[in-house]
Amino acid sequence: MRSADIIESIYRTTNAAREELRFLIENRDEESTQLLCGLARKRAVEHYGNKIFVRALIEMTNYCRNDCLYCGIRKSNKNAQRYRLTKEDIMECCSEGYSLGFRTFVLQGGEDMYYTDDIMTDIVASIRAEYPDCAITLSLGEKPRESYQRLFDAGANRYLLRHETADPEHYGMLHPAELSLANRMECLRDLKEIGYQVGAGMMVGSPYQTVGNIVTDLLFIKDFAPHMVGMGPFIPHHDTPFAHEKTGSAELTLFLLALVRLMNPKVLLPATTALGTVKGNGREMGVLAGCNVVMPNISPMSVRRKYMLYDNKLNADTETEAAYESVKSSMKAIGYEVVCDRGDYKK
Ligand code: 5AD
Repeated sequence: MRSADIIESIYRTTNAAREELRFLIENRDEESTQLLCGLARKRAVEHYGNKIFVRALIEMTNYCRNDCLYCGIRKSNKNAQRYRLTKEDIMECCSEGYSLGFRTFVLQGGEDMYYTDDIMTDIVASIRAEYPDCAITLSLGEKPRESYQRLFDAGANRYLLRHETADPEHYGMLHPAELSLANRMECLRDLKEIGYQVGAGMMVGSPYQTVGNIVTDLLFIKDFAPHMVGMGPFIPHHDTPFAHEKTGSAELTLFLLALVRLMNPKVLLPATTALGTVKGNGREMGVLAGCNVVMPNISPMSVRRKYMLYDNKLNADTETEAAYESVKSSMKAIGYEVVCDRGDYKK
């Protein structure tokens, strides 16, 4: 086997066998990285041109009923200062985001039972009524199918729920016993069946992750065919059981993003904040490896430091407009253009 042959074959067929993926990852070097990223970028440009879609991220609550071992807002982190945004706060964020040119709002939060289906559908319906030209994305964790349905009926279009790892044993090492991969997968299937554009994904370099796990993730993504894939490096948070674990590799993340692009040519692929956090020009490098989305934070400044899933998060103190301007100019510098567009998945 030669890496170059495998990469070219994935570029042509969009398919890869388990052994081929394993070989590529285990023999990753400068030469294969260059070839892979170059082809991934070419594929993204073929489908999306030099356009970068932006999503305005609103971190609406850091209360969470779960205790995921990697996450800074896990419920047993007693040092986290908890907050919730009101409907008015959220509408205010949307209004500011809309004026800046955003046409997708992403409401993300921990699994906070304060926001019942009634409260949440009211928020979604209000955004829908005021911004009929915008996409509404939710990222609020696992819910019963009926809740997903009600939110969809209220006007939500997309849902982000990373699968985190497609290996049930590895899933168990990252999560408390109450959570299971089987339930995650059921949620993902429900969301897709209801008609959401769905985002799955995982962290790169999470504790105990093996090359075999990563290959399983890539094959799961190919098979499930989500509309979006969120993938960034694992970064330890000092108040979690994984405080002393290693940070995931930016280089491996870029390599895997490029593979995701080749295996799923039209997928919406964000260059994540986590990637920008571990590497100075991480998000730009992500775009050069086939990413076509960035998700600037538009949460109120007063809560930014409280929504810390991991340490040293990029732009925690940068004002919304300044951070957005810097995304626009850094994208321009590498030959890309941020567009005001809902940026839907292309059929
Ligand atoms: N490092 C990197 N990513 C993290 N996430 C949660 N905690 C961390 C961390 N310590 C990711 C998870 C989750 C998403 C919202 O953030 O993959 O799905």
